Amino acid sequence: MAYTLPDLDYDYGALEPYYSGEMLELHHDKHHAAYVKGVNGALEQLQAARDSDDFDTITGLQKKLAFNLSGHVLHTLFWKNLAPDGGGKPEGDLAAAIDEYFGSFDRFRRQLSEATTTVQGSGWGALAWEPLGQRLYVAQVYDHQDNIGQSSGPLLVLDAWEHAYYLQYRNERAKYVEAMWNIVDWNDVAQRFDRARGIDLE
Ligand SMILES: [Fe+2]
Repeated sequence: MAYTLPDLDYDYGALEPYYSGEMLELHHDKHHAAYVKGVNGALEQLQAARDSDDFDTITGLQKKLAFNLSGHVLHTLFWKNLAPDGGGKPEGDLAAAIDEYFGSFDRFRRQLSEATTTVQGSGWGALAWEPLGQRLYVAQVYDHQDNIGQSSGPLLVLDAWEHAYYLQYRNERAKYVEAMWNIVDWNDVAQRFDRARGIDLE
């Protein structure tokens, strides 16, 4: 079954003033859609390669698959991580785990903000759960798929690609990242944390 572009749970303008409706529409309808098209295309081309037993372009196709699949996954997560009535701080088990692994919420927030703001080129900042060690950590992801541990599941992601903020924030990525904390849906992140903790790699 082919991947499809998911609908947003809110209107394009619902995250304003922190995230402009024009930017959200473009980001979802054009950029995210391109990754969906890309991953489906890569899967079709790999099928064709198997059918013809011609693997001359295998390295390019595997990269295309990883890049576009990861782009689709991260954008899907990103939209779910945001909500018009978001912001504030996590509560319960997630809050306790953040305190345990980062010292405090403010220290965690500072690290994720810095990691997102300083990505070289295109990438993401992510709060990830690592099931082998059963711990939370912050990852600085390059493109969509590099520089993150294999087993890690992202729980909260912040898009640091220029397409994610340039229309509204121009070159001020730090200002964009700061604004995003006002629309993080901690209920969504907490639910992902609960599900991720059920994964056992051993
Ligand atoms: Fe993006």
